[in-house]
Amino acid sequence: MKIAVLGFGTVGSGVYEVIEKNYDQIAKRAGEEVKIKYVLDLKDFPGQPVQELIVHDYAQIVNDPEIGVIVEVMGGVEPAYTFVKEALLKGKSVCSSNKELVAVHGAELLEIARQKNINFLFEASVGGGIPIIRPLNQSLTVDEIEEITGILNGTTNYILTKMRDEGLSFETALKQAQDMGYAERKPDADVKGYDACRKIAILTSLAYGMQVNYEDIYTEGITDITKEDIQYASLIGAAIKLFGTSRKVKDHVYAMVSPRMIQADHPLYSVNDVFNGILVRGNLLGDVMFYGSGAGKLPTASAVVSDVVDAIKHRGRNIMTIWSSKRLMPADLNTMESKFFIRVPKEEMDKAKSLFPVERELSIPEYEEYAFITEPITEMEFKDKAQLVHVKNKIRVEF
Ligand code: HSE
Repeated sequence: MKIAVLGFGTVGSGVYEVIEKNYDQIAKRAGEEVKIKYVLDLKDFPGQPVQELIVHDYAQIVNDPEIGVIVEVMGGVEPAYTFVKEALLKGKSVCSSNKELVAVHGAELLEIARQKNINFLFEASVGGGIPIIRPLNQSLTVDEIEEITGILNGTTNYILTKMRDEGLSFETALKQAQDMGYAERKPDADVKGYDACRKIAILTSLAYGMQVNYEDIYTEGITDITKEDIQYASLIGAAIKLFGTSRKVKDHVYAMVSPRMIQADHPLYSVNDVFNGILVRGNLLGDVMFYGSGAGKLPTASAVVSDVVDAIKHRGRNIMTIWSSKRLMPADLNTMESKFFIRVPKEEMDKAKSLFPVERELSIPEYEEYAFITEPITEMEFKDKAQLVHVKNKIRVEF
């Protein structure tokens, strides 16, 4: 099987390396040898072995009848969408790690693949190297999915872990994550929660068979999390994690991305550094958890190449998914209840106490402020009351 790789960045060079390193293992699993014939990139790589495969014109790839599978690891919606659609329409299976592309055009690209009896696979788009798309699509097919909660972004988990365990500043930890190839090109995509948002949109769409637009998912990132928040959390044996969650309650699906305070009894508490963890709750199965490297060159490339193997094994046969383009609008969050960790200036302690039902007070004397955890209140109640007092920060609490 001759394949082409679109993009020779972190993941693309990883795909090249994975195929070199595990050539025999991949051939055994796929039932035939897998060779990269082209690598599409704007740049040249003089002096590197990949240079002899580099092409700059996509037409050369998509019009080559020898190419059976195209790997798209460019990132971003365009030109990836145009390239992938053209490849599928020409009968070539596509394996992509591109969460932006999958979140926006997944339903349409899956439908083209279905019509053409080929495959559009995207295991690496969520959870880096963790198998989560395939299990959700092919294993957890009996249960009604009641909840998916995940630490879905490796960069932010790395930052939060390093701030807590090594006292690193946000900026230093982010720089390290960038140096290790975990971060997106634009840091906002990670730290403002956009990347996790796209990933929970993909998982929710797959779980419920409808299109969840990521713009409809309420999203908060970690940019407001301070060292004070982390110290208060540590004081009560808690950690702060960025969660992407979707939860089915009767006919409604609630979806959101936000930082959460969790304690050691939460299954995702020990998911640290660049690791991701995804908890899926089925109505019969109960909880099942997926854990592994959520970002990084080789883990992500390993997931991409596993899709290539799957595409080859299913040549001429579409792997069915239930994700349709019918829109699923997440439910209004205003009625959703959570406990909140809240910090207000010391002078506003009495006002805060009169407004919020305080379950527990937290004190770090060097900080001249009043910190507390509320009893469960609705999002609406929090928003209304937060207008009447100076909330320095708030984090939803899961215990
Ligand atoms: N920037 C992403 C992350 C890469 O940190 O999780 C993997 O999707």
